[in-house]
Amino acid sequence: MSVLSQFPQNRMRRMRREGFSRRLMRENHLRSDDLIYPVFVLDGVKREEAVPSMPGVLRQSLDVLMHQAEKCLQFGIPALAIFPVIDSGLKNLTASEALNPAGLVPRVVSELKKRFPELGVITDIALDPYTSHGQDGLVDDDGYVLNDETVTVLAQQAAVHAGAGADVVAPSDMMDGRIAAIRAALEDQKHIHTRILAYSAKYASSFYGPFRDAVGSAANLGVGNKYTYQMDPANSDEALREVGLDLEEGADMVMIKPGLPYLDIVRRVKDQFGAPTFVYQVSGEYAMLKAAAQNGWLDEKACVLESLLAFKRAGADGILTYYALAVAEWLKQEN
Ligand code: PBG
Repeated sequence: MSVLSQFPQNRMRRMRREGFSRRLMRENHLRSDDLIYPVFVLDGVKREEAVPSMPGVLRQSLDVLMHQAEKCLQFGIPALAIFPVIDSGLKNLTASEALNPAGLVPRVVSELKKRFPELGVITDIALDPYTSHGQDGLVDDDGYVLNDETVTVLAQQAAVHAGAGADVVAPSDMMDGRIAAIRAALEDQKHIHTRILAYSAKYASSFYGPFRDAVGSAANLGVGNKYTYQMDPANSDEALREVGLDLEEGADMVMIKPGLPYLDIVRRVKDQFGAPTFVYQVSGEYAMLKAAAQNGWLDEKACVLESLLAFKRAGADGILTYYALAVAEWLKQEN
């Protein structure tokens, strides 16, 4: 027996031995530039409400949110994504408040842009915060969400947000043809620079539960579900068709949602289209990490950073995460 055959031909551990060589061959990195911070905003002043199923996450009024926005800039987070908590008295069947140019979202957007012009502001395009039934669109007498009627309203909602100064509108509704309609409405009103971040592969996921608590749409939704418009978690080829359509219709960026259970979709989308690809670490993913950390069962920082790095490895360009600010602070401390 030759001497050589007694030893491994390749010693993969050699490069892992010291920090310097581990660093040299690291393929992916997480930076504050990768993060988008989703926030829940309330009407009024000096208001802060805890979201019980998302410990550490607050619903906050604009004055409080300003401090968070300032911190985002300080820690290098490029953009905020705004989700409104609408008073129940303003919700109805037509979601009329969604089109109010003096409504909560337009006011928050214009104040944020005035004070922090360099911070990107992303708004959610969907009707669920505004409908009395908590569905993302207008419904018929049987409760079926109407596609084309909803799309008409969404296009108007996007134009209202763009008019208030939103840099990016992000349709999260999963209606067919919404990207084309939104793009046409934006062009029509000369908002030619407004970007569209399409929630292209948005699954009908049970991981959205805590978010629905946060925006107060859960109670309204009742036993209802979103299976007739959000995607079946069993499907993957269908996600590629959705992404393809959204890009054709004029999306600048696409998103996969939820995150960690859908890394395979992130990779397929990035490989096939090479478009700016985002992923949403949703409320339920946050809640799981938080709960385990609070019980002392997981090392929070290590597990959060590992999860977010996994998104990068899967091919994501950016990540929406409720941990954004915490992560940006951790990353800064490490440097
Ligand atoms: C609704 C919307 C949802 C989320 C973002 N926009 C919930 C839903 O579709 O019911 C979920 C985000 C999260 O769970 O963190 N248009």
